[in-house]
Amino acid sequence: MSSLINKITLSQADKEFFWKNGFIKLNRLLTREATDKLRELTYNSKLIGKAPEYYTGDFARIGYGIENAVTHQIYSEENFKYTIKQLIKNELTFTESVGFELTPNKRGFYFHLDLASFSFIQAEDLAYSLWIPLAPINTKEQHGGMAYVPQKVYPASGYFSLIYELVQHENIAEFCQTEDFKFFNFPHASKVEELILEKNKVEDDFEVGDALLLNKFVWHRSVPLKEGKLPSRMAYTMRFVDSQARYGKNFLDDFNYMVKAMGDDPLTSFGYKLTDLKEGDLISKSKFVDN
Ligand SMILES: [Fe+2]
Repeated sequence: MSSLINKITLSQADKEFFWKNGFIKLNRLLTREATDKLRELTYNSKLIGKAPEYYTGDFARIGYGIENAVTHQIYSEENFKYTIKQLIKNELTFTESVGFELTPNKRGFYFHLDLASFSFIQAEDLAYSLWIPLAPINTKEQHGGMAYVPQKVYPASGYFSLIYELVQHENIAEFCQTEDFKFFNFPHASKVEELILEKNKVEDDFEVGDALLLNKFVWHRSVPLKEGKLPSRMAYTMRFVDSQARYGKNFLDDFNYMVKAMGDDPLTSFGYKLTDLKEGDLISKSKFVDN
């Protein structure tokens, strides 16, 4: 395989944009060979045909844990490390990938944080997603991309803390039985939060090969794909945790308890693969991840 990642040199303004807002669009990060391979991987993966809508959003297809040698090569390449290093001081540890396919009659996810995908680390520890659209995104025509909100508008670190505290609460089991819990809908922003997030959202155009890097404190949602010449929009997301991120087994258990209380099955069991770690150990030290 030839190089899958282009070496990108970022300006000081680009870096400051990322540090301030929590996300950055990386133009031409992936080569055509990389996006062709990721499209094939996403298309051929055994994705969940019908995902539970309440929890996951409304997609034509969604699948967790669909990484292979291509994924491994992407995050191992020097060009990838060089590009990321300019934005993030610590090394990143790859955890898992998710594939999505959005069609014109599907709305995708409402505004949310990737709580489930990062439910195995401590509340304040850093983690990142690299969202790679596999079709062009045109915000003047079909849309179908993502909308995201600068982290300073409504800092999501407070939301992570709230959920971490909530799952540990001594009355959580009783709370899960109440009407209030049903209305809480914790995987998504509330209607009030949505009002503010909608007002401040950013939506970009993407060529195939561009990618969006965002940290776990950035609220984001799918932008529905309108009818048009694209029959569907596939995207591939790679998840990473900071090399200093610590294992949170207690939270993982409690979080999944709450997901089940909502009537859904946890979609990813990645956190349970790290059987060599104790509460508070560095994820990067597990033999079940590679750095
Ligand atoms: Fe997400």
